[in-house]
Amino acid sequence: MINVAIMGYGTIGSGVAEILETNKEIIAKNVGQEVALKYVLDLRDFPGSPVEDKVVHDFSIIEKDPEVQIVVETMGGLNPSYPFVKACLLAGKHVATSNKALVAAYGTELLQIAREKEVNFFFEASVGGGIPIIRPLYRCLMGEKILNITGILNGTTNFILTKMDKEGWAFDAALKEAQRLGYAERNPEADVEGHDTCRKIAILTAMATGKEVNYEDIYTEGITGISDVDFRYADKMGMSVKLFGSSSMGEDNLVKAYVAPIMIDRNHPLYMVSDVYNGIMVTGNMLGETMYYGSGAGKLPTASAVAADIIDAAKHVNRNVPMGWNSERQAIAPMEANEFRYFIRMAGQPEERLGSLMELDPEEAVTLEGMDEFAVVTRPMLEADFKELTAGLDGLIKFIRVEQ
Ligand code: HSE
Repeated sequence: MINVAIMGYGTIGSGVAEILETNKEIIAKNVGQEVALKYVLDLRDFPGSPVEDKVVHDFSIIEKDPEVQIVVETMGGLNPSYPFVKACLLAGKHVATSNKALVAAYGTELLQIAREKEVNFFFEASVGGGIPIIRPLYRCLMGEKILNITGILNGTTNFILTKMDKEGWAFDAALKEAQRLGYAERNPEADVEGHDTCRKIAILTAMATGKEVNYEDIYTEGITGISDVDFRYADKMGMSVKLFGSSSMGEDNLVKAYVAPIMIDRNHPLYMVSDVYNGIMVTGNMLGETMYYGSGAGKLPTASAVAADIIDAAKHVNRNVPMGWNSERQAIAPMEANEFRYFIRMAGQPEERLGSLMELDPEEAVTLEGMDEFAVVTRPMLEADFKELTAGLDGLIKFIRVEQ
């Protein structure tokens, strides 16, 4: 029998306990022996719950119990999750976490300790919720050079943007609904300002390159600047706006990565990824494009990814599975090195202003009834050139990058 402890009995942790119970026969069959929940670490008690008799409040009980071979970390945040996870690995226990902040901040060190201790530090649930994306990168695509990863990686912002696009909701109402449904992080800023997506694309980029990625090197812009008027233009142009996390791995060993709202047309494979769903496109040099789609947040989908990590750890209980990255730092190019087309909104009427946009080679101007402004989409250009050509441009209201 393999014994598991869960640290943090919130939404995800309770989901993991539920899966271990509901699917115990499937899990035992796949592991080859029973996997049992021994402890739940939390500050609270849960009288009347199925884990009532397993609750402990002292971490050292888990740390010191040699019967506990796998520890699940679903507390979130960095403190005390980081010292607890580190102590578990040092004690020779496998760890499965859903905590992207922990993986993005301390993944390099924790992966190294896991290798030294011949255990595993798994984090499938940290990116894409229930979507298998970490394991495909180190198992199924291990013979590929990964050229590009582009995804809708945050369920909350995708839910908000979908409500704004399809139902005309205001940003605040859509955010409140996302929070009510339990998708949003405790602090909604992490979702809406793009920080959550940034950590996720940093993890995926590190998985793809095998090198440490500092998430602070990645240009990050959230969705708080996107308005209902933008969506009215987008609709007229046959487009939508999605929050992308993207990284391109060039031949020159330089990675171009960013998080930003991107306008895409109806033919783009990620156009149909709506609501709380996530979609991730991975391009390999031999394979071409692949796409991974599913529930990017929520209790049971995310817990399902943790359960898969528990099974993987239980099947490799005496060995470290090679995966992740090392401490060599991956260089990230500045945002100015990326190339986009640009949707721009200009005050005034096209006949007065289009002349000033000639160097941007704009497509036909689009107008909205009753508005003294118009929008165009430019030719593709480097962000550095766009910034230079539009510096001080009279009447520029805003721009949104358009994926080519
Ligand atoms: N707040 C995150 C999201 C949860 O909305 O995607 C999953 O990481």
